[in-house]
Amino acid sequence: MHQQRSRMKYLTNRQITDLYNVSFDAVRKWINAAREDKNDLQIGQVEPDKWQIADISKNHEIMKGMVALGKTRKNRLALKMAEPKSEFYKLYSPAQQLDIISSIETYREIPLQYGYFDGGAEYWDKYANRLLNEQSANMLNKTVELLDTNLANLDRLIGERKRVNVIDLGVGNGLPVKGLLDHLLKRSVLNRYVGIDFSPNMLEIAKRNIASWFDGQVNAETHVRDMATERFKDLLVADYDTDADKPVNIITLLGATLLNLRDPEDMLRLVRTSMMPDDVLIYTTKLDTVNARRYFDFNADEDAAVLADDHRMVIELLGIDPSMYEVEQFYDADLRSRLIRIRMKLDVTVCFKRTGGEWRVDLNKNDTITLWRAWHLTARETVDQFDQSGLRLLDASVTPDDEYLITMSRPSIIKPGEN
Ligand SMILES: C[S@@+](CC[C@H](N)C(=O)[O-])C[C@H]1O[C@@H](n2cnc3c(N)ncnc32)[C@H](O)[C@@H]1O
Repeated sequence: MHQQRSRMKYLTNRQITDLYNVSFDAVRKWINAAREDKNDLQIGQVEPDKWQIADISKNHEIMKGMVALGKTRKNRLALKMAEPKSEFYKLYSPAQQLDIISSIETYREIPLQYGYFDGGAEYWDKYANRLLNEQSANMLNKTVELLDTNLANLDRLIGERKRVNVIDLGVGNGLPVKGLLDHLLKRSVLNRYVGIDFSPNMLEIAKRNIASWFDGQVNAETHVRDMATERFKDLLVADYDTDADKPVNIITLLGATLLNLRDPEDMLRLVRTSMMPDDVLIYTTKLDTVNARRYFDFNADEDAAVLADDHRMVIELLGIDPSMYEVEQFYDADLRSRLIRIRMKLDVTVCFKRTGGEWRVDLNKNDTITLWRAWHLTARETVDQFDQSGLRLLDASVTPDDEYLITMSRPSIIKPGEN
């Protein structure tokens, strides 16, 4: 039963997949069947080529019935096994394997940092070079622009210091800090460039790039660390042997990597505890705008989305092949995040080899696994987030389109008795 657009309220396909824990495929089939009068769902044409299911109690009863029927028909033989590939065990240490397994079990999520290994790092290097040269605005070319136009402000904060260290958190291929390093080098104040990243492959690429851009004048010191759980203050000790000629550390956290983490504030507090009182944290991010929310809406409902190499890598290494899932990418208003995740089309058991035997992780049909997230925050919310993490704002500016933000902050100094 269907009708033209009216004042009737309609459910998006996403709302239905969430309400009834069914796949997009299933919702599409229900709508097609309703259009051919093969079921009693009341649907409406909300756009020229778009039909949706009306939000009325009769439809909810019908959908509940169809879900129940689907469950009783469920073919137990459809259960599949997935065997992680040998590369999975070679690429990730036993502790990292355990982290991936427990994150799938606990959060139904693969921590993003595992996607920047090996081929994922090469993919990011190529992707970043493409972004830099794109005409339209993106996180990378706007980070470069914001850093470039704020160098004078940074110089003011550095003051008369003769030695400046750059501590780069989540280096990628090094491109975003190239202009900053060049500026400090020309001012003859660059002391050390320290790159911290979870991926050894990403660090190798950054090191290679920096050696070639600066003709060997900048030595990239690299450290494999998880910036979400490990401090970096120990790396600064050698510079503080005496009181004289103390360096200032510029900590860079660029490209909105912070907002990909599950707990950004935890990481900010950790960064603050590694900073010296006069250090400056430079942060760039994409802001919450209508445009940003729509970023990949075109893929969300109707068309099957495809995973980028760095998002597909871990899933592929786990032996979960594309026939087992469909890809969803959308803005979730409740979570205030853009998400990329896969939704299982069938029950799959992933069998991890452990030294003492096997660890099986059961994924049920319609379970989702998050592969990427970006929290959405306005400029004011960003400043509040930093404030609550003990970082006070020194300087901030946004791009003319109001979509990208740079902030410079310093640890808040709290004396006993003050709040
Ligand atoms: C999206 S890229 C951004 C790189 C660069 N800052 C930029 O703006 O182009 C994220 C980088 O952070 C690294 N990364 C992600 N999570 C991390 C973590 N928890 N600890 C250390 N590095 C991490 C990745 O390996 C990758 O190099």
